[in-house]
Amino acid sequence: MEEALTGLTAAQKTLSPKWLYDDRGSALFEEITEVPEYYPTRTEAAIFETMMPHLPALFPAGGDIIEYGSGASKKTVALIETLRPAIYRPLDIAADFLAQAAAGLQAQFPNIAVKPVVADFTDPSQIPATEEGAPPRLGFFPGSTIGNLTDDQRHTFLAGARKGLGDGARFLLGADLVKDKTVLEAAYDDAVCGSAALNLNLLTRMNRELGTNFDVSAFEHKALFNGDASRIEMHLVSLGSQTVSLGGKSIPFADGETIHTENSYKFTVDMIDELAAVTGWRLAQTWTDPKDWFGVFWLEAV
Ligand code: AVJ
Repeated sequence: MEEALTGLTAAQKTLSPKWLYDDRGSALFEEITEVPEYYPTRTEAAIFETMMPHLPALFPAGGDIIEYGSGASKKTVALIETLRPAIYRPLDIAADFLAQAAAGLQAQFPNIAVKPVVADFTDPSQIPATEEGAPPRLGFFPGSTIGNLTDDQRHTFLAGARKGLGDGARFLLGADLVKDKTVLEAAYDDAVCGSAALNLNLLTRMNRELGTNFDVSAFEHKALFNGDASRIEMHLVSLGSQTVSLGGKSIPFADGETIHTENSYKFTVDMIDELAAVTGWRLAQTWTDPKDWFGVFWLEAV
């Protein structure tokens, strides 16, 4: 509530993207991944397919895999089959969605301990500490979810993961790469991708959980590439001047004023290299698709 109030009273109104991903939001995102213009999921999957056979040489069987923001855990099946860990911990804030996905995986892999963690992945303290003699840990953060984090959050997250995963840890990261603006914008456009439903779901959720009175039909989805900041920005545009109430406060919206709801940062390999270097990791391997649209990165704790 406090966080939402602070965001909505700032000069550029903002709401945290984590509000987007309740059970409904997670399901809407799964639909987006099926749309041809939304290339990241498909491109990453193709890269995984080619690099997966190299993984057992990098990480032994019997390990402890932690997946941050696991969602439907679709990519996980291949990873589990390839690496045969002793423990798999999917971590997500969408509780029901997580429970369902975890139960499915547990049924599919009866010999692996599936231990779901309901948590915000930006808070790395949610993972149990490593103990002497415990299996080595691998952090798995696919889907360019890292692109949702601000510069600060991204650094804090990777440094926290380095600490939480312990010495000898590895980290498998999927990150979307900088590319032609038209390709980027088409992937987040509503006409082709249906991103509006996901974006507007945030208002529905706030009405339900925080008691705001947003008129969802009075806002419109907008996505644009901000080249200077290297990110796609998602906004909700107010269609007309209106007032919304939150916790007894009135929040005025001018016609055309926006709420900035999500960033999707786009990276270069150098950016990832630098990020790893300052957060206690070393970028050991990089795999990309033939067009260099998406990158899969293997980090090792230093
Ligand atoms: C789930 C954060 C990876 O940034 O591409 C897709 C979210 N938002 N379309 C992304 C998203 C609108 C997506 N991530």
